[in-house]
Amino acid sequence: MNSPLWSDGAQKERWLFVPEGKKIGVKPDGDFDVPPGSVAVKTFSIGGKKIESPTLGGTMTAAPRLRLGNRQPIDRHGAAEPLALPAHHLVTHGVVVGMTGSGKTGLVLVTIEEALRCGVPVLAIDVKGDLPNLLLAYPSFSAEPLLRWVEGVLSPNEQGPAEEVARALAAERQQALTAWGVGEPALAAYRAGIDVRVLTPGSSAGEPLHVLSALERRSARWDHDPESARASLSAAVSLVLRLVGRDPDPAGSKEHVLLSVLAERRLRAGSAAELASLLADLTSSPIDIVGALPLESFLPKSERRSLAAALNTLLASPTFASWRTGATLDVDAWLTPKGGRTPAVIVSVAHLDDDERALVLGVLLEEVLSWVRAQPGSKRLQSLVAFDEVYGFLPPHPANPPTKHAIVALMKQARAFGVGVLLATQNPMDLDYRALSNAGLWCVGRLQTDADRERVVEGLAGDTRGKEQTAARALGNVVKKLAPRWFVLRDAQAQAAPGLLQPRYAMSFLRGPMTRSELVAARKEFAGVAERDVTLASDRVAASGGR
Ligand SMILES: Nc1ncnc2c1ncn2[C@@H]1O[C@H](COP(=O)(O)OP(=O)(O)O)[C@@H](O)[C@H]1O
Ligand SMILES: [Mg+2]
Repeated sequence: MNSPLWSDGAQKERWLFVPEGKKIGVKPDGDFDVPPGSVAVKTFSIGGKKIESPTLGGTMTAAPRLRLGNRQPIDRHGAAEPLALPAHHLVTHGVVVGMTGSGKTGLVLVTIEEALRCGVPVLAIDVKGDLPNLLLAYPSFSAEPLLRWVEGVLSPNEQGPAEEVARALAAERQQALTAWGVGEPALAAYRAGIDVRVLTPGSSAGEPLHVLSALERRSARWDHDPESARASLSAAVSLVLRLVGRDPDPAGSKEHVLLSVLAERRLRAGSAAELASLLADLTSSPIDIVGALPLESFLPKSERRSLAAALNTLLASPTFASWRTGATLDVDAWLTPKGGRTPAVIVSVAHLDDDERALVLGVLLEEVLSWVRAQPGSKRLQSLVAFDEVYGFLPPHPANPPTKHAIVALMKQARAFGVGVLLATQNPMDLDYRALSNAGLWCVGRLQTDADRERVVEGLAGDTRGKEQTAARALGNVVKKLAPRWFVLRDAQAQAAPGLLQPRYAMSFLRGPMTRSELVAARKEFAGVAERDVTLASDRVAASGGR
């Protein structure tokens, strides 16, 4: 029921009268369709004495739903109808696969938009550079804001005055969104309800991110949740050790143990554990026992000196300095709504090289994991973690990049806390299927190679021997022939046969990957800074170069 109410301590009985011969249905948008003449009554009593029996009006809404697009039976016999996925179906996690151009990023963005529309905060991990398109949530169909993006959208042999192209783009957007039932009021409401931030570790195109903040800035968690603070510290120490080419394993590496002990000593005492101070602690140690062993036999002075020297080289590196400024790695603060707006925080690593991406995302995901574990239990979708282009970060055994442990753990544990994980990849051969085996929602777009199709269908159909085999082969054939922006949808919680999903048109303008100066401009524009200032700022950045 959607009525504000205060009724602490009361006993409640609810009655629902439906006229004879009539039924309650569910409308396409997820609201209950209650027949005329129905009456809902709620009785309040205290100590067995009836106090009040209001008759309730207003709308009766079911759980929040994600209007992802249309669904159709898999054989296409039957009309397309709106799909309103109950948000909590994402709590058992989703996987989107399909070849390049199949519409994965579009589907991920639409899912993010829908989560935000339902008030669910989103953390999005961006490897290719297109998720910051969420900043381009223009609240009207006007062509003017699209003008800036015309240059990048045109192919080399397309010509025409920019204004004309922008008008054509705007008309296309208007026509497509209108066809999906999204008008300007819906666009404006969406834009007014969201707060999009883009974090770019090692770069100032977005907000820089301090990837070692668990070490170098003291978190209040040391006072009330030392266990989760320790998990973050451990990830930060692993990152430092990886950066200096040493064993990062928290369980096996003596250097990890020693640095963690030294850092925790400082953090527990109420100060930060800056790298420079740890370096000093290594050369003249404030402790003489580690575990049960004298420090000297745990890690001899010569080895401590060599580690200190390596840390010093790291500290002196200008690139590394850019990773140690900016926003604190604090998922809880990021995902807490401010000013009534639902946050979407995009961590973009598109500008980094492969090794740097794995390192930064490793520490980020470990932080997400320790945040998840500190959440209260929930069956509803409380937050969404979306990872587009997970290729290389969750590979099958025995590969083990720094990201893998946390993603595997999230897939197993996050559901209990109402945190849904949505992964997308173009390369289904590269996934650790043990980690994905219980993902409830699969969206499979067109896949070109037989090997890719077999891998996914195997995952979907489970056992592909016996009578399942025919079904699996049929599914494989469907996947082979899918048009772009169509997916086979299997939703384990819907207990229905797989169907087809056509994602709706995104409300955000899908400009594609943005350059550094475009990102700067888009952020300023989102923050509401005047057009002129945005241009000046991006000119300055372009002139100063850098990544
Ligand atoms: N839901 C959508 N709404 C609007 N445009 C879309 C949508 N999905 C895909 N597109 C368009 O189709 C193109 C390819 O889709 P994309 O999602 O980038 O594919 P993928 O991520 O699978 O490579 C994009 O450039 C985008 O313009
Ligand atoms: Mg993509």
